[in-house]
Amino acid sequence: TWSMSSFVDTTIEALKEQVGDAKVVLGLSGGIDSTVAAVMLHKAIGKNLHCIFVDNGLLRMGEREEVVGFLAEHFDLNVKMVDASQEFLADLKGVEDPERKRKLIGYKFIEVFDREAKAIEGVKFLGQGTLYPDVIESESFKGPSAVIKSHHNVGGLPEKMNLKLVEPLRELFKDEVRRAAYELGLPEHIIWRQPFPGPGLSIRVIGEVTEERLQILRLADRIVQNEMLASDWYRKVWQGFAVLLPLKTVGVMGDDRTYENVIALRIVDSLDAMTADWSRLPSELLARMSNRIIREVKGVNRVVLDISSKPPSTIEWE
Ligand code: XMP
Repeated sequence: TWSMSSFVDTTIEALKEQVGDAKVVLGLSGGIDSTVAAVMLHKAIGKNLHCIFVDNGLLRMGEREEVVGFLAEHFDLNVKMVDASQEFLADLKGVEDPERKRKLIGYKFIEVFDREAKAIEGVKFLGQGTLYPDVIESESFKGPSAVIKSHHNVGGLPEKMNLKLVEPLRELFKDEVRRAAYELGLPEHIIWRQPFPGPGLSIRVIGEVTEERLQILRLADRIVQNEMLASDWYRKVWQGFAVLLPLKTVGVMGDDRTYENVIALRIVDSLDAMTADWSRLPSELLARMSNRIIREVKGVNRVVLDISSKPPSTIEWE
């Protein structure tokens, strides 16, 4: 019978064969797909794998240290961290349209990644954590989701860079990637990491993205993540996060009137992100998130809960 451990072994052998002693460059996002692809390639070709982690300034609190530090220490991966946050934020200045945000971030990512990859001498391959559903979607191309939101922000990268693709996961579904991750000895916090969109927090700061608004969202989102982890709900839901709305409302603190930002909680159940429903979390847990956000995050005086299903709503607000 087909087993994951033999899949992993066979794939590593095939990667050795395909790549030989050439160099591979791979964009590491910290998500499970690129991480598993990187660890498998590393097992196959060792230091000839060059990982690039681009900090686009749109990451969550502590994310960059977590991803780069962990993989470099525990798996001895060759990871280069590129801080391009100022470039991304400069491009996003004054931009409110969601699709415009996605496109600008996609272009900038390609530019930065291409520049960094060219700085490595003799790279022949581009490694990617493409899964089977991604292969299908790009082959049939115009699925409805392609029109609703342009998800594939790294499309166009291989053509531009003139590299051959190496995609160790292209036969796997998501649950199989998790099993492969387990097989490779990756820790639970990577295996069970919730999906996080390529455009990052930019599509969760509704309206213009500024450093100040990103920081408010980061603090609120950290509370949502912590409370889900502490209550064991993190693994039961598909995805849970905070969204910063582009409006202010009135509140009261002590004897004073406040006029501050609103945070929305978006926490959903789903099997494949094509459909989703809001998670029925215990009201005590929601209360704790709300109280903590309002108490601990300066500039927020109201928290609301998103109770819409997909369709007709989407998971992300933009
Ligand atoms: P929606 O909002 O379309 O999201 O219901 C479905 C899933 O896709 C993620 N998502 C993205 N992922 N780039 C990504 O890599 C994107 O532009 C993007 N937009 C949404 C979203 O987090 C959810 O898991």
